[in-house]
Amino acid sequence: MEHSAAISDYRAAVEITKDSNGIDQVVLRNPQGASARVSLHGGQVTSWRNEHGEELLFTSNKAIFKPQKPVRGGIPICFPQFGNGGSLEQHGFARNKIWIIDDNPPPLRPNDSHGKSFVDLLLKQSEEDLKFWPYSFEFCLRVSLATNGDLMLISRVRNVNGKPFSFSFAYHTYLSVSDISEVRIEGLETLDYLDNLCQRERFTEQGDAITFESEVDRVYLSSPNVIAVLDHEKKRTYVIRKDGLPDAVVWNPWERKSRSMVDFGDEEYKQMLCVDGATIDKPVILKPGEEWTGRVQLSVVPSSFCSDQLNLQEWF
Ligand code: BG6
Repeated sequence: MEHSAAISDYRAAVEITKDSNGIDQVVLRNPQGASARVSLHGGQVTSWRNEHGEELLFTSNKAIFKPQKPVRGGIPICFPQFGNGGSLEQHGFARNKIWIIDDNPPPLRPNDSHGKSFVDLLLKQSEEDLKFWPYSFEFCLRVSLATNGDLMLISRVRNVNGKPFSFSFAYHTYLSVSDISEVRIEGLETLDYLDNLCQRERFTEQGDAITFESEVDRVYLSSPNVIAVLDHEKKRTYVIRKDGLPDAVVWNPWERKSRSMVDFGDEEYKQMLCVDGATIDKPVILKPGEEWTGRVQLSVVPSSFCSDQLNLQEWF
């Protein structure tokens, strides 16, 4: 009886619908009214709303929702490459592929399911993909929404056969902010970063906190597992907790680059900020049979929080 009640609760919390291209998307809901939407196109989270229905992730009004193209917004999965170079497309192929729902995922820790509505997705490469990246892998993605509205993504990549391979990875998280000039990031002070605007030259962060007045495109190295993004106008703070992801990407295209992107409005840079849990500087190497896990948990708290109140030991 208890078991069947749990199953019907689970069904109410997880709904599968189709987008305008006929691609399945999974809607997760919690009892308080928060929700998240995950598309099988890219395994991409395309919406995360709090219990008041407010959208917490940015998606461009000019985003193009077409298979084989990345969608500008939400949380694209960058795999097996962050950035460009080699035979792979920019930020890898995972965000452009159609994933499937995984009804029989490998076991996770009990706490990864308890009290959450979730979906498990799976990406395997096609024969075509093997021409560009000739390695056999399985990529299992769990997206879950907790009772308190937190969003968690767990990625597990396994080398299923053959030869060792290496990859870089990022959860390219587009946070929705009220005004980029009123936003600051805490947790990355004093760190070294690679500046994509200066041919990946290495610098050391000098400011007390990171604020924005021009284009920023950086990979902060060996960053702490908790990062806070404070939005003064909205009086709310995003807390990003990560594990298995040593680096943090910070990106805002600002005016000039915004104008050059076809799927992004000229003024939209004011309403977004990408802060990604990532592993880029030291790619992950997997031998046959080995598995890697990278987790990120996103929460929203009132802005009276600041990074020294965040318990760095608290997670994972
Ligand atoms: C950032 C990169 O993280 O992603 C930028 O560092 C890039 O250089 C941006 O412009 C967006 O990439 P894309 O491929 O989604 O347009």
